[in-house]
Amino acid sequence: MSFRPRRSVLYMPGSNAKVLDKARTLPADALIFDLEDAVAPDAKQMAREQVAASVQAGGYGQREVIVRVNASASPWGADDVTALAKCGAAGMLFPKVSSAADVASASQAMDAAGAPAEMALWVMIETPQAILSVDEIAKATAATRLTTFVMGTNDLAKEAGAKLTQDRAPFWFALSAAVTAARAYGLTVIDGVYNEIADSDGFLAACRQGLEFGFDGKTLIHPSQIEVCNEVFAPSYEAVAHARAIIGAFADPANAGKGVLKVDGKMAELLHRDMALQTVAIAEAIAAMQG
Ligand code: COA
Ligand code: MG
Repeated sequence: MSFRPRRSVLYMPGSNAKVLDKARTLPADALIFDLEDAVAPDAKQMAREQVAASVQAGGYGQREVIVRVNASASPWGADDVTALAKCGAAGMLFPKVSSAADVASASQAMDAAGAPAEMALWVMIETPQAILSVDEIAKATAATRLTTFVMGTNDLAKEAGAKLTQDRAPFWFALSAAVTAARAYGLTVIDGVYNEIADSDGFLAACRQGLEFGFDGKTLIHPSQIEVCNEVFAPSYEAVAHARAIIGAFADPANAGKGVLKVDGKMAELLHRDMALQTVAIAEAIAAMQG
C-alpha cells in the first residue's frame, strides 16, 4: 500500500517572491502556488513567470508543488496552462470546475500544452453546481488526469449566500458530498481554509472537524497553521500502536480463519484490519517524509 501525505497544503500568492522562497523551509506536505484569487489582475503575468521560474529552480524537497491556474473562462487561464505545463510541478489545480465536461477540458488543456503524463489534475470544488454534480465530476477521474478535490469554502459561501460559521453547519452537506464522491472514485480530498489566522483554538477545532469528515488534509493560508494541521491529520501514537496490534492479532496462526477478534478490549473485524493497514501505511509515509 503506498500513500503520500497531504495533511497540510499551503497556499501562497504567486506574485510574492518572498513566500515562494520561504516555502522551501516550511514543513508543509504540499504547496499551492496561486495565480488565481490571491493575485491582482495587474500582477497576473509577473506571477505566472515567477511561479514557473521558482518551480523550475526547485529546492522544495519532498514537498509536493501544485500550481493553481486562473479559470479557463478568464483572460489568463489558457496562458497559465501553456506557461506552467512543463515547469515540473506535480499538479495543476483548476478553479471553478462545475461539471465532468469542465474536468475533461482542463485535462485536455494540460495534454495540449505538453504536460507530462505524471502531472496530476486537481480541481476546486467551490461552486453550487459542483456540489450538485460532484458524483459525475469525481467519476471523470477514469478518463482524465483528475486525482484530487480541494474544497473552496470561501467561494462556496459567497456563491451559496451561506455563512462560514465556526461549526460550518451550513456546509455539512457540501463537505460530506465531496468526501463521499471522492471516496467512491478513489480521489484525494482536501478541506478548505480557515481564514482567522490569529484564532489558534478555532483552527484546531476546524482541523479536527475536517479529519472527522474524512478529509486527507486541509488547505492553509499561513505558516503558523502548518504544525497543528500536520499533527491532527497524522495518526496518533496510540492509533498506530492499536493498528499494529490488530494486524498482529489477525496474523497470529492461533486466529487463522477468524473474522472477528477482541484486540485491546475492542472488537476488531476484517474491515478494521484493512483500516489498520492503511493507518500504518500513512504513519510510515509520514515518517519517511520526515526522515
Ligand atoms: N506561505 C509562505 N509564507 C508565508 C505565507 C504563506 N501563505 N503567509 C505568510 N508567510 C510568511 C511571511 O512572508 C512572513 O515571513 P518572514 O517571517 O520571513 O517575514 C511570515 O510568514 C509571517 O507572515 P505574517 O507577517 O504573519 O503575514 P503577512 O501579513 O506577511 O501575510 C497574508 C498575510 C494573509 C497576506 C499571507 O499569509 C498570505 O498571502 N496567505 C496566503 C493567501 C492565499 O494564497 N490565498 C489564496 C487561497 S485562499
Ligand atoms: Mg476560489
